Amino acid sequence: CGIVGYATDPASSNSGALDVVLEGLRRLEYRGYDSAGVALQVDGQLWTAKRSGKLARLEEALQASPPPASATGIGHTRWATHGGPTDENAHPHLAGDGRVAVIHNGIIENFAVLKKELVADGAEFLSQTDTEVAAHLLHAAFSRTGDLTEAMRLVVNRLEGAFTLLAVHADVPGTVVGARRNSPLVVGVGEGANYLGSDVAAFIGHTREAIELGQDQIATITPTTVDIVDFEGNPVTGKNYHVDWDAAAAEKGGYSSFMAKEIMDQPQAVADTLLGRYDVEGNLTLDELRIDEAVLRSVDKIVVLAAGTSSYAGMVAKYAIEHWCRIPVEVELSSEFRYRDPVVNARTLVVAISQSGETMDTIMALRHAREQGAKVVAICNTHGSTIPRESDAALYTHAGPEIAVASTKAFLAQITACYLLGLYLARLRGNKFDDEIREIVGQLQAMPDKIQKVLDGLEQVRTMARWMADTRSVLFLGRHVGFPVAMEGALKLKELAYIHAEGFAAGELKHGPIALIEPGQAVFVIVPSPRGRDSLHAKVVSNIQEINARGARTIVIAEEGDTDVVPYASEVIYVPQTPTLLAPLVTVVPLQVFACELATAKGLDVDQPRNLAKSVTVE
Ligand code: G6P
Repeated sequence: CGIVGYATDPASSNSGALDVVLEGLRRLEYRGYDSAGVALQVDGQLWTAKRSGKLARLEEALQASPPPASATGIGHTRWATHGGPTDENAHPHLAGDGRVAVIHNGIIENFAVLKKELVADGAEFLSQTDTEVAAHLLHAAFSRTGDLTEAMRLVVNRLEGAFTLLAVHADVPGTVVGARRNSPLVVGVGEGANYLGSDVAAFIGHTREAIELGQDQIATITPTTVDIVDFEGNPVTGKNYHVDWDAAAAEKGGYSSFMAKEIMDQPQAVADTLLGRYDVEGNLTLDELRIDEAVLRSVDKIVVLAAGTSSYAGMVAKYAIEHWCRIPVEVELSSEFRYRDPVVNARTLVVAISQSGETMDTIMALRHAREQGAKVVAICNTHGSTIPRESDAALYTHAGPEIAVASTKAFLAQITACYLLGLYLARLRGNKFDDEIREIVGQLQAMPDKIQKVLDGLEQVRTMARWMADTRSVLFLGRHVGFPVAMEGALKLKELAYIHAEGFAAGELKHGPIALIEPGQAVFVIVPSPRGRDSLHAKVVSNIQEINARGARTIVIAEEGDTDVVPYASEVIYVPQTPTLLAPLVTVVPLQVFACELATAKGLDVDQPRNLAKSVTVE
């Protein structure tokens, strides 16, 4: 979500709150665009407006009935996590007879417990969001303390999860309070005006002086002051810095493209997708999977339906779910499914994977499956979109909006959601004991740091990509879960760099693709862990040997410590050790960066490659 806060002196010549907040929201719309809202301080009252849909809908409403002049306000543009994208669920959320307004980015994990407590105390809830609990808690805390910063401090200490919260109160004119834990928040310092934003794009049109907030800090701004305390209430000195990005770069967090930013956002996308889905002991809590447990226990086949990159997430899911649950999993391209008279019935569970939730091929396929009596679970990144709406249950990926046409962070989030689904079914059906599930959940929790480690060490890949900008053909080989990774690596290169690329199952090399190998042919090989089962590692190492002997340029992605590959590799890219089934979350990252960097070196628009669309709403 995108967040803006603003406070100026009504007597100053600075722009009014509505203009500044809306301008900030326009620049932040890339962070979420399923609803938007503002709260302004007007003559000792709060004035609010919010609308589902894009920011333009809110702007129309504001033009139709403009608010009175205001010098202090907050605004929000939303990407739904809890509660669909409706007017009621749009932020701000109010409490205390509309005297306090709160906006929020993130996920409050313990909201259900808090909501129960608040309802018992008589609070009335108007939305399905987790945010509304924060508004009610803040109202109660302010009633006790009369101090908005202190009230915010008391509230954040009750919240678990990730959040940026901004609040204004009718009784505290000229003040906005913001708090952050695990979600971003920066302060903008102006002349007679101060700003809060989820990133500097929120205020780049007004000031380039910013203060970085640390983890677990609260900032209180007035037109002339910025005060920062930690969650214990101790004063903190923030780190001042000057933003030298232009407005376009600011939206991309300083990266050259949305794609580059989205690739770097992947540790967060995986962490957010895991967030709130297990309790402190590591037990899974997939409450949103609202399909009768008896039905899920009786399932005798899973069919994954998806298109493009999402279908490769489905292929990874097959390996994991079959291994953990002992249920056969078929992965089918949505566009092929209904035309071949598939065998689907009431004992089939269909998993429809889609970033956008609007891919027509997948919609038609899932409709066909439901007509045959199958239950459908959607794994989707977009709340309120068609695919989750037409499914029996939805498991949302929390990757945040993906702007670049070719998918990166949504892919990692989809794989993560598939693992969660697989583990949930394994427990439900008695294939795995709780302690086994907890162990794998623990391994999943370690993945964001491992992805970060890959991202931190990619200079070698970048240099190689720039150097290979003239390459005309690249092959990708992988086996087991490395096979879908190879397919995705090839797809990224086709999509972004317009280079002919093919992904193959490494074992198939000898059955055909090896004929393509000639001196200088670039081949990426995704090598399974040497610690993995069977002799898979040795077989893939033999493949590298075979193509190396025929003059290929072998670029090997291997686990740290794997020295077996070194003699046959032109380049080795090491990734952290991971359990075999979870490896795609790290092995695909160098391939994404390679494609993005190579396309950038060719001067191509990586965010909007030619001929492609982000959401393909025709069959
Ligand atoms: C389009 C996009 C791809 C995407 C595919 C499936 O072709 O260009 O990047 O993987 O659709 O989209 P979905 O939104 O259903 O995941």
